[in-house]
Amino acid sequence: MADILYFNGRFTTTDERVLGVEDRGFQFGDSVYEVFKFLRRRPVLALDHFRRMERGLREIDIRNPWNESGFMRTVDELLDRTAFDEGIVYTQVTRGEEERAHFYAENMAPTALMYSRRFRFPDESKKERGIRAITTPDLRWKQCHVKSVNLLPNALAKKRAQRAGAEEALLVGDGVVREGASTSFFVVRSGKLITHPLDEHILPGVVRDRVIGLAIASKIRVDERPLRETELFQLDEAFVTSTTLGVMPVTEIDGRVIANSRRGEITTRLQVLFDDLEMSEISQQHRGAAV
Ligand code: PDD
Repeated sequence: MADILYFNGRFTTTDERVLGVEDRGFQFGDSVYEVFKFLRRRPVLALDHFRRMERGLREIDIRNPWNESGFMRTVDELLDRTAFDEGIVYTQVTRGEEERAHFYAENMAPTALMYSRRFRFPDESKKERGIRAITTPDLRWKQCHVKSVNLLPNALAKKRAQRAGAEEALLVGDGVVREGASTSFFVVRSGKLITHPLDEHILPGVVRDRVIGLAIASKIRVDERPLRETELFQLDEAFVTSTTLGVMPVTEIDGRVIANSRRGEITTRLQVLFDDLEMSEISQQHRGAAV
């Protein structure tokens, strides 16, 4: 079934072929994207995603076609036209379309698109069971804090994980475990959370940021520091976070079982807290809309 698509100021469906072959997002990966979820047809943490996209666009010198309220209006209209209640919104902004050349013109008219898609989020049994992961070298560019569409290293790493019977690839550079190919990575050791600090080696995950806030509010200590690969042998719990997975336990890394393959206590607490936070996000919007 075709999905509802917003493309450069109008609504259509994903059946329509809208993109020119010389769009720089297609030819140069000259583009950033975001994925956020919606529940009960209400966007979850969409402003956090918008702000990250805005920072990314500024860094790579692309004009943002939306301001905050214009973006939220487009999201609302998209979800009004969407026929189902739960799913993800994919949004992407490229530098735009012009005759192919590495040099780009100043002030190009960006391409802006957004579509909604049905998505089945992990159910309770999956959230308890968790996922397996492998480690693999981080082959990405040196600006991973920008959510660019240059995802070839991520896609190859994910495929490698899949072939090994795992769902996530943990990317390792200079002996440090940075993040997953499409997730942020946390471990728990002696009751304390450890996760990579925000820098150019990782994406500033929206869920990562919220989970850190929730942990601190619950008096769980958080150490944002590089985690050596060798420390993977000394951990009590591990989990990944992302928009689509929420807080997801990691029960095996490179075939080594973690915490008897059971969802850890701190992981469980943070999972519940984060799920509650998402629900309170959408119910607040509901109240706002009713006034
Ligand atoms: N991936 N790290 C990377 C490299 C990612 O691609 C993602 C998100 C995350 C988690 O970010 P967030 O909590 O903001 O979803 C971390 C999205 C879901 C994707 O590419 O589909």
